[in-house]
Amino acid sequence: MSGTIPVVAQKGSYKVEVEAGKAYWWCACGKSGKQPFCDGSHKGSAFSPLKFEAETSGIVSFCGCKATGNQPRCDGSHKNLP
Ligand code: FES
Repeated sequence: MSGTIPVVAQKGSYKVEVEAGKAYWWCACGKSGKQPFCDGSHKGSAFSPLKFEAETSGIVSFCGCKATGNQPRCDGSHKNLP
């Protein structure tokens, strides 16, 4: 079980300024120390990061609770967490 449920890194989004044309790796496991992005901590788990390619420059709300239904963006799912 522990390998299939992501860690809640933060009950809320991470608002990050992204640059058009750049790729970012969103942490799906929740264990990264560099939230919301992957730092390799998922190794050995069932998770792998999700690539996000910015089409435009601006602020993106990345999911911090890792329970979003719209990875890698926050969809408000953290409000339903216990
Ligand atoms: Fe979480 Fe890589 S550290 S997906």
